[in-house]
Amino acid sequence: MAQGSVPVLTIDGPSGSGKGTLAQRLARQLGWHLLDSGALYRVVGLAAVEQGVGLDDETGLAAIAEHLPICFAASAPGEPAAVILDGRDISKDVRSEQAGYYASRVAVFEAVRNALQARQRAFAQPPGLVADGRDMGTEVFPDAPLKVYLTASAEERAQRRYKQLKNKGENVSLATLLEDIRARDKRDSERVVAPLRPAPDAHIIDSTVLPIDEVEQQVLGLLRARRMI
Ligand code: DC
Repeated sequence: MAQGSVPVLTIDGPSGSGKGTLAQRLARQLGWHLLDSGALYRVVGLAAVEQGVGLDDETGLAAIAEHLPICFAASAPGEPAAVILDGRDISKDVRSEQAGYYASRVAVFEAVRNALQARQRAFAQPPGLVADGRDMGTEVFPDAPLKVYLTASAEERAQRRYKQLKNKGENVSLATLLEDIRARDKRDSERVVAPLRPAPDAHIIDSTVLPIDEVEQQVLGLLRARRMI
């Protein structure tokens, strides 16, 4: 296992559960590295569309994933990273709804997931790693000493996303967002390869009515209890 003695905290869960925010806050607080694995799938989707490779073309997509000239440029461990593809800053495109849709399409393929695995494991560097995704605890870092599965109701997740997008000035409908979230949950949890599910040893936290500060404190408590910090 590439993670060796580096402490790894995995945070998995559905879109909009708050895991991205939680992972970022914890990585910053601890000074640990941050793996936003969803960004890798998003970039594969964006690169495929740009290069005219079909979102159903497993071999073509896996070739893109294998050779992706991508780098995450963070000013310090835990700081939000700019996503640089082939020298271009594509951070904004990566976070778009469209890229999320492409990501969930390409993520169903085993060859794509395999092609991204080594790249993800390489993020486990001292002093530690917070890994955010869907299969961090089940597939990528199965030996991680602390696994968190963060969830929230689909309605609450749609509300959060709605507020985020409105704040960015995007014109979206709540009903459409809820529909998209349900469709993505279904695709992520019913896919044959690495479906979205908590690892058997994951600590499940429901954030529907729990403020992010409290979730963060809970996780810090778990890290201390396991002597990871
Ligand atoms: O977390 P996110 O919204 O950036 O993820 C976008 C899509 O990528 C999501 O629909 C599922 C997929 N994904 C995945 O299959 N495995 C991961 N570890 C991360 C994301």
